[in-house]
Amino acid sequence: TAPLRLGVAGLGTVGVGVVRIVRSQAALLSARTGRDIQIAAVSARDADKDRGVNLGSYDWESDPVALAKREDVDVFVELMGGTDGPAKDATEAAIDAGKDVVTANKAMLAIHGQALAERAEAAGRMIRFEAAVAGGIPVIKALTEGLAANEITRVMGVMNGTCNYILTRMENAGLPYDKVFQEASDLGYLEADPNLDVGGIDAGHKLALLSSIAFGTKPDFNGIELEGIHRITIDDIRQAADMGYRIKLLGVAQRTGRGLEQRMQPCLVPDTSPLGQLEGGTNMIVIEGNAVEQIVLRGPGAGEGPTASAVMGDVCDLARGFRLPTFGQPATTLMDAPSARAVLP
Ligand code: NAP
Ligand code: HSE
Repeated sequence: TAPLRLGVAGLGTVGVGVVRIVRSQAALLSARTGRDIQIAAVSARDADKDRGVNLGSYDWESDPVALAKREDVDVFVELMGGTDGPAKDATEAAIDAGKDVVTANKAMLAIHGQALAERAEAAGRMIRFEAAVAGGIPVIKALTEGLAANEITRVMGVMNGTCNYILTRMENAGLPYDKVFQEASDLGYLEADPNLDVGGIDAGHKLALLSSIAFGTKPDFNGIELEGIHRITIDDIRQAADMGYRIKLLGVAQRTGRGLEQRMQPCLVPDTSPLGQLEGGTNMIVIEGNAVEQIVLRGPGAGEGPTASAVMGDVCDLARGFRLPTFGQPATTLMDAPSARAVLP
């Protein structure tokens, strides 16, 4: 069988992780998929940067759109980030050139996912995005495959590790928000635009994607009731603790009589519950379905290894010839869901 050839655009945290797995796990990937998985070419902004990984055997493309269209690329792996710009341009170019796409880009998909999915499906191509939601936790696969026979009643969870780090560190060390925010910044946890994390936007992007798959609706980021953690004080956290609660940036998506309720807000959760016991940068997703009842998925939501693990899981599916619509059902069948005004429990 011919090898599956990747074009990897973006050689930052996640891109380097993907290169490492392709290089170090060649035999395992081949045994599990029945095909060799190779990198044909890569792209990033700075061709001279030392990335701590050997890129010598790969062609370099300074333009990700050119990479996406190369004849020797079967799968375009988009790991640059950004809602618009080169990520979207190159993804569209890849689809139009007949390539499948694997991306970790929740910002792009939460806003443009419907249009990109329709474009891909019209061209007979696939967009896979396991890494975009909850890093190493295979929650997209859980929803689209293992739970496909369930009517999903609710999806909720902690989907931004940085916010969970900040909130748990404030509580455990008794430190104020500003000090812990600075700590998170020094540790390199924050996105280039920190408001994506602490404003709840990054987690909101993830919720919009989960909600779309769970309820068969078009991704609707603008329908999310969104509130970040930047106004949470150490007094709020102490008072919650006195009552047996912890404050979490909690995302909830569920159908109500008034429409689709999607909210991403700081919430009180009992400190003895699985969500209440979630420490540091870990993510947790709770899925409720009519047949399965409830499952809880917990794991690392970010970082080189966990995120590259999810990217490569999608690549393996493509190598095996596994076909699945972007949001688990054809994009043209996704419904508009009226957004419900969220009412806190
Ligand atoms: P990153 O470390 O900032 O790396 C971004 C990479 O994209 C860099 O290599 C950069 O090149 C390259 N790039 C940016 N603009 C480009 C352009 N115009 N042309 C070519 N290359 C360009 O980002 P990351 O953390 O790896 O994240 C990548 C994606 O994964 C994002 O969508 C992010 O939201 C998502 N994600 C990340 C994590 C995580 O833990 N980091 C987890 C889940 C999802 P240079 O290196 O030359 O500057
Ligand atoms: N900034 C994100 C987080 C990265 O902290 O969860 C992973 O999506």
